[in-house]
Amino acid sequence: MENPNHILAVEQILAAKQSLPGALLPILHDIQDALGFIPPAAVPLIARALNLSRAEVHGVITYYHYFRQSPPGRHVLRVCQAEACQSVGSDALAQHVKAKLACDFHAMSEDGAVTLEPVYCLGHCAVGPNIQIDETALHARMTPEKFDQVLAELRRKP
Ligand code: FES
Repeated sequence: MENPNHILAVEQILAAKQSLPGALLPILHDIQDALGFIPPAAVPLIARALNLSRAEVHGVITYYHYFRQSPPGRHVLRVCQAEACQSVGSDALAQHVKAKLACDFHAMSEDGAVTLEPVYCLGHCAVGPNIQIDETALHARMTPEKFDQVLAELRRKP
């Protein structure tokens, strides 16, 4: 079912950006920033506005893991997987996080509380492993034990 508010938001973004050179990626970023994902109903609107085929637009959305095609969970949790964090245990941390959430990267926990994403450097390499919650909250020197506390708090939040 198409959400009229989503369509309106997409149309406003298209009106603002469609004449820019290389407009597709900025448009997709703006839509995801506004709605949390790229609704399927946006694809034909974007294709028409940019004179592309639906397959071309869909191809770009699926090429970049960053773009979601369904709404995220109540919170988005990013686990840094870049080199400095890897050297201090982010791989093992990611395995723990996936097991606790019972989902992989680019997926949502079954209770809808958390969408799990990898991220490649959060700019705090000296204090890794790092995780980020909802774009703003950075948690440094993360351990599996600390993560369990963070997750318990997150699940209590609306
Ligand atoms: S490598 Fe993880 S914050 Fe830079």
